[in-house]
Amino acid sequence: ESSTEIDVSAIQPGQAIKAVFRKQPVFVRNLTKAEITEAEKVDTSSLRDPQTLEERTKEGKTNWLITMGVCTHLGCVPLGAGEGEVKGEFGGYFCPCHGSVYDTAARIRKGPAPKNLEVPPYEFTSDTVVKIG
Ligand code: FES
Repeated sequence: ESSTEIDVSAIQPGQAIKAVFRKQPVFVRNLTKAEITEAEKVDTSSLRDPQTLEERTKEGKTNWLITMGVCTHLGCVPLGAGEGEVKGEFGGYFCPCHGSVYDTAARIRKGPAPKNLEVPPYEFTSDTVVKIG
């Protein structure tokens, strides 16, 4: 099985990059404190696919949001990782194909997608390197 190693040291708070894992895009995002607060204050029972930010990140590293960059509707690549300020109204990602909107924890908030952006298996191998897969 192939895995992908990513050096995250240059990703600033508020920034997300796009990498490739098993031929699919993966987003690595360094959440700001405000984005973390935004994600944590959401009542998860109001969500289509209820998950907390803590469930979607690693303990002690809730600022690192690592998800597949594949919309759970029909598989387009959402905007918001590397397109500057194109994050959609919930501050996360926006899928231009049919208008799915994801929040700062990449949870689906609006539009046709049924699920949150998938969190792939990963681990930090050091403070600055994450191994996906
Ligand atoms: Fe993303 Fe349809 S593929 S909204």
